[in-house]
Amino acid sequence: MRGVSVSKPKVFSTHVLFDDPRRRLAEHFDVDYWTGEERPPRPEVLKRVAGKDALVCLLTERVDQELLDAAGPALRIVANVAVGYDNIDVSACTERSIAVTNTPGVLDETTADFTWTLLLAIARRLVEGDRLARSGEWLQWNFDLLCGTDVWGKTLGIIGLGQIGRAVARRAAGFRMRVIYYSTTRAPAEVEKELHAEYMEQDRVLEQADFVSLHVPLRADTRGLIGPAELAKMKRTAFLINTARGPVVQEAALVDALDQGRIAGAALDVFEREPLISDGLRRDNVVLAPHLGSASLETRTRMAIIAVENVIAFFNGKRPPAILNPEVLRRK
Ligand code: GLV
Repeated sequence: MRGVSVSKPKVFSTHVLFDDPRRRLAEHFDVDYWTGEERPPRPEVLKRVAGKDALVCLLTERVDQELLDAAGPALRIVANVAVGYDNIDVSACTERSIAVTNTPGVLDETTADFTWTLLLAIARRLVEGDRLARSGEWLQWNFDLLCGTDVWGKTLGIIGLGQIGRAVARRAAGFRMRVIYYSTTRAPAEVEKELHAEYMEQDRVLEQADFVSLHVPLRADTRGLIGPAELAKMKRTAFLINTARGPVVQEAALVDALDQGRIAGAALDVFEREPLISDGLRRDNVVLAPHLGSASLETRTRMAIIAVENVIAFFNGKRPPAILNPEVLRRK
């Protein structure tokens, strides 16, 4: 006897994801994928989200009142495939009893690896070296060719000692560095001990660090956190590393500080108006990356799996493991 077919909840996924998460999503839902190579244009997102029960989206999609209006009353959950969720108006979702989830915990180590990739690249002038080596213009070795600055034994300053900041700090031991940090909430004593991390006010971190690495989420209180006054506190020999979110740094102030030689350089994975990059940042003492912090195949797959698991749990009447607004569950 044929079973009665029950229609599956409808999902719009703004990316095809990777094989495993895609398979899991397809088992449980009727999925409409954006399959384009580029990110979907906004009108396309607004059109395709209409009437869907769930939205699986990336940090490039702005989930605001306009999108929620376009989605209509069916939308029950927005699953961001990112740990940062500054692209989502969570309170607007909460008002409409829409659950919001992110992907914490799976990208900390990978993002910390990339922070060190940038830090080492800027300190040891890797990008300049690569450019010279492949240009065909490297004609002879010389004693003072592309001398950078030592990393080992220096002071690493971390602003924001969350999970990613901690993973970055943990790696500093191998370089025999001193680790200092500022965070709005001071880490427990055992964490400070494990990381050999010294807590101090943000200004002291800026003044003392040879490398200042940013690991705060983008919120109203961290937007523009590093501006002219903060950059002026840094050593002239220090480098700024940003793998958090672009708008945490006032990009015009950073360009100005670099122009004036007030800091030695920067290594940036994120930008104020991503993917636009200020022309003033295209210089030898800045390493630029196109937002690759969590971009390993393993981690991006894990992130997508978590997003999918959040949606599956929700429609099974369970608490999604990474729900940001659990109060909406109590209203059902
Ligand atoms: C990446 O930037 C993320 O927030 O996951």
